[in-house]
Amino acid sequence: MPQHTRLLPATPVGMTDAAKLLAAGELVAFPTETVYGLGGDARSDIACARIFEAKGRPQFNPLIVHVPDLAAARGFAEVGDEAERLAAAFWPGPLTLVLPLRTDAGLSPLVTAGLGTVAVRVPAHPLAQALLRAFGGPLAAPSANPSGKVSPTRAAHVMAGLAGRIAAVVDGGDCAVGVESTILGLAGEPVLLRPGGLPVEALEACLGAPLATGGDAAKPSAPGQLASHYAPGAALRLEVTAPEVGEVWLGFGPGCTGAALTLSETGDLVEAAANLFHLLREADTLAGPGGRIAVAPVPERGLGRAINDRLRRAAAPRP
Ligand code: TXA
Ligand code: MG
Repeated sequence: MPQHTRLLPATPVGMTDAAKLLAAGELVAFPTETVYGLGGDARSDIACARIFEAKGRPQFNPLIVHVPDLAAARGFAEVGDEAERLAAAFWPGPLTLVLPLRTDAGLSPLVTAGLGTVAVRVPAHPLAQALLRAFGGPLAAPSANPSGKVSPTRAAHVMAGLAGRIAAVVDGGDCAVGVESTILGLAGEPVLLRPGGLPVEALEACLGAPLATGGDAAKPSAPGQLASHYAPGAALRLEVTAPEVGEVWLGFGPGCTGAALTLSETGDLVEAAANLFHLLREADTLAGPGGRIAVAPVPERGLGRAINDRLRRAAAPRP
C-alpha cells in the first residue's frame, strides 16, 4: 500500500525524526558524498526486506553496511592489516571494503545475502555521519533508486523513484562525488569489485601493488554487475563523436559544441562524474519514449573508468 513519504530538512530535528523512523524499522533515504542511500536498520530483517521490496531489487545483491567510523566497523567485520591501512587512508570516504563477517555481527542475513563476507562503508557526508550517530546503529543502504534505474544524486531523484514506497527522504542537496563508492574485496587477495568514486590508482598506491579486477557480469556475486543495471529508458550509443539526427548527444570536453547536454565542458572527469546520473536522466527525458542517446567518448582513466563502467551497463542489451 502506498505510504506518505516525508521530505525531512537537514536540521537536528530532521535527524531526530529520521532516526526515530529508522528505529521503527522504516526506510529513510539520506545523502552520502557519492549518491543517496536507501537506509534501513542493518540488524532488522523486516527493514532489510523492505529495502528489497522498495527497490524491487534482485535478492542476490547483498547490501552495503554504513557505519560512522572504523571502530564501529570492527563490530561487524574482521578488519585485517590491509583493511586497517586502507581505512586510515580513505575513511571516511567513497571506499567500500568487503571483509570477512564476524560471527557475532548481529546483522540481518538479508544484508549479506547469506555470504560469509560483509561490505562496509564509512561515508564522509556530514548528514550521513549525523544520521548514523543519531540512529546509533549500522544502516544497510543501497543506492536509493528502483532496481535497474539510475542512482539518485538529489532528493528530488529519490522522490521521483521511491515516493510512496519509503517513509522519508533527508534533503541534503546535490551529492558531491556523483558515482557510487569504489568496492574492494579484502576477504582474500585484494580485488576490485566495482570502480567508483575513489580512483583505483589511489588504492594501488596505498596497497603498493596493481589490483586484480574481480566480478563477472554473468555471475553477479556482487555489485551493479547485472549487465543493464544502470539502464535509462532510451537506447544508448557510446563513443560518439558525430551524433545522428534524432539522437540526444551527451557531450564531454570542449570538442562537443552542439551537444544537447555536457558532462563537463572542460573535460574534467570529477565534474563529469558529479553530473553523470542527473544528465542521463535529463537525456532520457529529452529523448522520450523509444528515443536514443549518443554519448561522447570519456577517457578510461581515474573517475573515467567508473563513468565508462556505468555507461557500458546503461548501453548493454536489456533483459
Ligand atoms: O556509494 C555507495 O556505495 C552507495 C551509497 C548509498 O553508499 N551505495 C551503493 O549500494 O551503491 P548498492 O547496494 O547500490 O551497491 C552495493 C554493491 C552491490 O552491488 C552488492 O552486490 C555489493 O555492493 N556487495 C555488497 N555486499 C557484498 C559482498 N559481501 N560481497 C561482494 N559484493 C557485495
Ligand atoms: Mg545501486
